[in-house]
Amino acid sequence: MTDHDIRVLDDSQYRTAHTLFRGTLHHTAAPDDQWAFARESYDEGRAFGAFADGEMIGTLQSFPSRLAVPGGAVLPHAAVSRVGVRADWTRRGVLSAMQRAQLRALRSAGDVIATLRASETAIYGRYGYGVATRYRALRIDRLKAAPRTRPVGRVRLVEGEAGERIARGLFDELSPGRAGTIARWPAWWSLNVRRVAAEENVKIAVRSAASGTSGTSGASAASGEDDGYVAFKVVPGSHDPNEGKPTTLMVLDLWARDAEAWADLWLFVLGIDLVAEISAFGRPLDEPVQWLLGDRRACRIVDEADETWLRLLDVPAALAARTYRQAEPVVLGVRDAYLPENAGSYRVTADGVTRVDDAPELVLDVDVLASAYLGDVSFTSLAAARRLDAPTPTAPARADALFAVSTPPWSGTYF
Ligand SMILES: CC(C)(COP(=O)(O)OP(=O)(O)OC[C@H]1O[C@@H](n2cnc3c(N)ncnc32)[C@H](O)[C@@H]1OP(=O)(O)O)[C@@H](O)C(=O)NCCC(=O)NCCS
Repeated sequence: MTDHDIRVLDDSQYRTAHTLFRGTLHHTAAPDDQWAFARESYDEGRAFGAFADGEMIGTLQSFPSRLAVPGGAVLPHAAVSRVGVRADWTRRGVLSAMQRAQLRALRSAGDVIATLRASETAIYGRYGYGVATRYRALRIDRLKAAPRTRPVGRVRLVEGEAGERIARGLFDELSPGRAGTIARWPAWWSLNVRRVAAEENVKIAVRSAASGTSGTSGASAASGEDDGYVAFKVVPGSHDPNEGKPTTLMVLDLWARDAEAWADLWLFVLGIDLVAEISAFGRPLDEPVQWLLGDRRACRIVDEADETWLRLLDVPAALAARTYRQAEPVVLGVRDAYLPENAGSYRVTADGVTRVDDAPELVLDVDVLASAYLGDVSFTSLAAARRLDAPTPTAPARADALFAVSTPPWSGTYF
């Protein structure tokens, strides 16, 4: 018998949950105009509360989404967020109880994968979440960058809702696409773009293939199809370099259909006058920005950190959905304390995965499998770090050959 219980929240409780969550991050309650945006991000059946003595003491929720896995399949995915327990109730098992309820509910509803962004790395491994993608943060000294090449298409600024509409259309075409990328839910755009755009002067620039001469607010390309966009904002500083407050352009979101569009979008931001520094957060590990520059040292990688924490809710469905390279089979033994129906042996071959009774050649917890699932880390590295057991010493190398990917997984969506 615990001193708290977990319930699915209804419409009348969402604002209390939102305020509670914000309080755990040391923020005050959202004013009415902000709540109007946040309200849209609560979906029926997806928000949970923990209650004690008639009061809400903890909450978590998820957004409905889809996630791409190696080979291109797209799986039902829950984006878990707004996790918080009131400070006077922490370390009494409230989060563990909410996790148990949420993992069970998500799996029962048919989500195959859940992901989240972790405030602290110590929290989520115990619930079966492992780091499955990483991102880079870049800082570019624009005045030293000296791009080696010039744009070949046209990049134009598109104001207001027209810019958001084009960006959304392009994003929905491109993500989920690469392994790790996800579908954004409608409220993602209103919370992260529309609300912020008004308050913080966010601009959207759209790229099209052929050069043209459209004005700055045109919603359609002068010629050629739109094939990429960048959302950015400029934080004005001082023009005096001695003051140490450079005018900084922050790249918030950049998606392109192909390499040509990608390069043009970077060349566009690199060409904006009176900007001393460009910073970009949440970028993929393989983005070759330095190679665009005359002085590659003008671009520094200032961070490389965990992005997606991934939970395999339905291990057989997730293993069956991705593709594998041609290599010798391996039998994985999976442990899962929170969703025990996932535990067991899985024979992975180039042609697919079957559940078997064979003795495992490689034994690992479900959070460790999550880290290897999209190809971000090799089984050999995990074995070296003693995160898995390999009763058959050749098994990690065979698993590596099967799970190998040519492009590092990446999400590119913060929530
Ligand atoms: C993180 C948070 C939700 C944890 O809630 P909680 O109810 O205290 O968690 P539990 O009591 O269920 O903890 C379960 C286990 O996780 C550990 N744990 C929980 N939060 C931890 C943290 N921040 N750092 C290290 N360990 C943590 C507990 O010590 C406990 O370990 P044990 O099982 O070995 O005893 C809560 O501390 C909180 O609201 N923090 C501020 C907001 C926040 O960071 N939210 C996460 C946003 S992604």
